[in-house]
Amino acid sequence: MTSVEIFSSPMELSEAAAKLFAARAAGAVSARGRFIAALSGGKTPVGIYTLLAKAPFASQIPWARVHLFWGDERCVPPDHADSNYRLVRELLLDYVPIPPPNIHRMPGEMDPVEAAARYEGQLREFIAPHGDGFPVFDCILLGLGEDGHTASLFPGTRAIRESARWVLGHYVDAQKGWRITITPPVINAARTVVFIAAGSGKAAVVKEILEGPFRSDTLPAQIVRPAGGDLVWMLDREAAALLKVEGKGKT
Ligand code: 6PG
Repeated sequence: MTSVEIFSSPMELSEAAAKLFAARAAGAVSARGRFIAALSGGKTPVGIYTLLAKAPFASQIPWARVHLFWGDERCVPPDHADSNYRLVRELLLDYVPIPPPNIHRMPGEMDPVEAAARYEGQLREFIAPHGDGFPVFDCILLGLGEDGHTASLFPGTRAIRESARWVLGHYVDAQKGWRITITPPVINAARTVVFIAAGSGKAAVVKEILEGPFRSDTLPAQIVRPAGGDLVWMLDREAAALLKVEGKGKT
């Protein structure tokens, strides 16, 4: 099921997203003994990671049973300013008692193609493929670029159409750099996918994605349609400004 939740501010969005993350963690641990999540880079999730690192969330979440993966990574070392791993480490991992083996960062320092193969191998070891041959994450957090990209699935890249591999390393012309990313079938196998977008700069692309024609080659975020899971769009009022949907809509 797809739902669209609209919040009055980025802070309210972050609070709601942190609450959802904590609730999914509790649910997954009680049902399956562990919570497997994939995190996003970018600026939008900063408020969420900051909240998860402190009361009440830091003590609510069963960190010893939480396993964190990344949805994508820039091909840089883990201490590089552009690293999505470093973003999460500095905002969250340095403040919560998550066991180091539960932190599964993408090896951005490696050759991208080799890194993708290694990460896919790690994933295959850790999460057995489900019915359709893909791993089932409990929760995948995704940001949204103004060009409609998500994770590192950028417009016009072959990665959008990947239907077999779980992880790809590819050169992104628009970013003049290599990226590692999980693929659409992995995202769409998740139990919950949370899209977060805030700010007026995202309003046009959010409207195109949610209310425009399906054209995932140019709007890769449209490829995200979790078959058996929930898709939750969490927007602040500015990012939702052009939508016909009012308030907490369910579509
Ligand atoms: C990354 C992210 C990327 C991000 C979008 C939105 O590596 O940058 O994974 O997909 O979520 O670019 O970024 P902002 O939240 O900064 O707008």
